[in-house]
Amino acid sequence: MSTILSSDKKHVWHPFTQIQTAPVPLVIVKAEGSVLYAEDGKEYLDCNSSWWVNIHGHGKKELKEALINQFDAIDHVIFAGVTHPKAVELSEKVLSILPKNFSKVFFSDDGSTAVEVALKMAFQYWFNQNKPKKRILALEGAYHGDTFGAMSISQRGYFNEPFEHLFFSVDYLPFPTIDKETGLLIQAKNLFETNEFAAIILEPLIQGSAGMCMYSADFLQKITALAKSFGVLVIFDEVMTGWGRTGEMFAMNHITETPDIVCLSKGLTGGVLPLGLTVATENIFNAFLAEEKTKALLHGHSFTGNPLACAVACASIELTQQSKFKDNIQRISAKHTQFKVSLEGIKSLEVRQLGTIIAIEIKQTNADYFSSIRDEAYQYFLDRGLLIRPLGNIIFLNPPYSTTDEQLAKMYEGIKGFLASKELIFNI
Ligand SMILES: Cc1ncc(COP(=O)(O)O)c(C=O)c1O
Repeated sequence: MSTILSSDKKHVWHPFTQIQTAPVPLVIVKAEGSVLYAEDGKEYLDCNSSWWVNIHGHGKKELKEALINQFDAIDHVIFAGVTHPKAVELSEKVLSILPKNFSKVFFSDDGSTAVEVALKMAFQYWFNQNKPKKRILALEGAYHGDTFGAMSISQRGYFNEPFEHLFFSVDYLPFPTIDKETGLLIQAKNLFETNEFAAIILEPLIQGSAGMCMYSADFLQKITALAKSFGVLVIFDEVMTGWGRTGEMFAMNHITETPDIVCLSKGLTGGVLPLGLTVATENIFNAFLAEEKTKALLHGHSFTGNPLACAVACASIELTQQSKFKDNIQRISAKHTQFKVSLEGIKSLEVRQLGTIIAIEIKQTNADYFSSIRDEAYQYFLDRGLLIRPLGNIIFLNPPYSTTDEQLAKMYEGIKGFLASKELIFNI
């Protein structure tokens, strides 16, 4: 065992890991483009973009320059009572690529905190107008993060069972498969008619952690319009779907309706530094303006508006404006579609794709996140130089957009090899 590993074993508590039974972690010492380099000299393709965050590939020189230049200017500064050029520039840049109804940007640290802020905005929006509304609607299967508010509105189960007694109550709609859409819209209408709902929160088009579960743009459009017709605030959690993942810059660009609040993180800084944004409409912002100080959004973090993260996010957004960015998304999406077609007609599989995300669900009885197939697949892929972290029985790819056709082919070959090893497909 290397000294890094033995020291890691002694001192480090890893996330989402049962350390007693988990294999030793990979020691990654370098990353470039879509490749991760391990201490022992092995190379791995970063098939899930380092927890879904890396969009341009690792070591992007434009992001490095932005970071260094910003460090020379200001590393960090308090963001209450102070502003700085990169926070202002980032706000302008983000607003310029979102629908025009958005007008104010609130800064936090990651996806979970972006969601916490959205919840606080929604509840306080009503509270400040002396019309408190206590209910919130979410979707079954949702994942919005690991802080308490975000856990409360996520799918309840073994991920958060020890804390469930502390959660606020939430109404859930079942996942909108095509056959359920009409019924769910009626169910939602009945709930909204109570006039008790502050907001509805959705992962638009794809529930990521649920297993890259996809639903129709038509349902997203209709439920958004319905909520808005009842004055219920609509929150889109685009933490995972943002920055081109679904083939459009944001999942909301697949529909014409717009939410009132959007949560952004992950690819916001190109996946280089932690940063969360909660973007709201002028109408929501105005509900916080008053003579009373208590009507302000009394929320903030030590690193709110961190200038280094803001500078890198600005540089990342500039990269998203280059034609290469769109071209790569289209190229990867087209390759995924070909791969999907090659797996069609296999009864033991369900293959889903939207943009640069493809998910292969191995149909199993009693399948869940801890499905044994997950550990087998994970190791199988590592042995072949692929870092793919399945969601239980669902193997998925959401690679950095720097991933070449050859690298994609290696990923597809690895997945087909695994499926063949389980006798789920033949003739690979
Ligand atoms: C849709 C969604 N929302 C929120 C989060 C939480 O983000 P973070 O892990 O940065 O706190 C995630 C993380 O995967 C996510 O997929």
